[in-house]
Amino acid sequence: LRVLVLAGGLSYEREVSLRSGRRAVDALRGAGVDATLRDADAALLPALDADPPDAVLVALHGASGEDGSLRAVLDLVGLPYLGADARAARLAWDKPSAKSVLRTAGVPTPDWVTLPQERFTELGGEAVLQRVTAGLGLPLIVKPAQGGSGLGVSRVSSAVDLPAAMVTACGYYPTALVERYAVGADVAVSVIDDGGGPRALTPVEIAPHAGVYDYAARYTAGLTTWHAPARLADEVLDSVRALAVRAHTTLGLRDLSRVDLIVSPDGAAQVLDVNVAPGLTETSLLPMAAHAEGLDLGKLLAALLRHRIA
Ligand code: DAL
Repeated sequence: LRVLVLAGGLSYEREVSLRSGRRAVDALRGAGVDATLRDADAALLPALDADPPDAVLVALHGASGEDGSLRAVLDLVGLPYLGADARAARLAWDKPSAKSVLRTAGVPTPDWVTLPQERFTELGGEAVLQRVTAGLGLPLIVKPAQGGSGLGVSRVSSAVDLPAAMVTACGYYPTALVERYAVGADVAVSVIDDGGGPRALTPVEIAPHAGVYDYAARYTAGLTTWHAPARLADEVLDSVRALAVRAHTTLGLRDLSRVDLIVSPDGAAQVLDVNVAPGLTETSLLPMAAHAEGLDLGKLLAALLRHRIA
């Protein structure tokens, strides 16, 4: 099995992607797979043409890797790749679109509004503040409508902080997703399917020491404690796993994904976000979940890739 791991790219998550890519290559090699790492740069197409691998592992996070565009190129050149196809990736990547589809299918997700930057400026901060806080209450979570790794995300506890949070979010993408804040445990559930149908791995609970799971808390050792399995009752763990599989299937995903949820103290779970290129770094959640199940990351990725090309 010859696998090309694509990483890097030009998104805000480039550095994370390179870390994911290196880890994927090491893990695959450890499982006896001939894996190479390549930056997704302008010379990619001729390289794929000259020496096509058996399959591609897209370890690009953010724009192009997760928004479906690179996947569409791989479709064009006829190369199989791990994970969601271009259409499903595009849907999952746009948080408001994904939330609409999930909600329509009965998968709980916190109430939200989308707020394009120009609309915010045009209406004036005051009018928007009133409408948004009247509808969703406080606190709020403000994040780029497309993005990952916690970049541009703010928790807004007081209405006067909303404009600054909009500026932060719109620094990454010109539309913000403003969500009702849900109290509870942050839990990530990785979903895999190597041929037997989608199944959820061990739910991992995220406990950032500073209370916010931002970029630093995700990728700096010692800033977050992860619990695998999440500290939830067995029946809640089961329902959280089932909800993650439902979200994965509802969005039409395949092979692997990671569903991020919030679980309230009464055990009710809501889906916050679905990732089609989950991080594979030393502090990422899918590798932790695999480890908690006694699965070797390289063998797992190899099995998923073999199923994709079978
Ligand atoms: N966007 C990062 C890589 C993640 O979700 O793991």
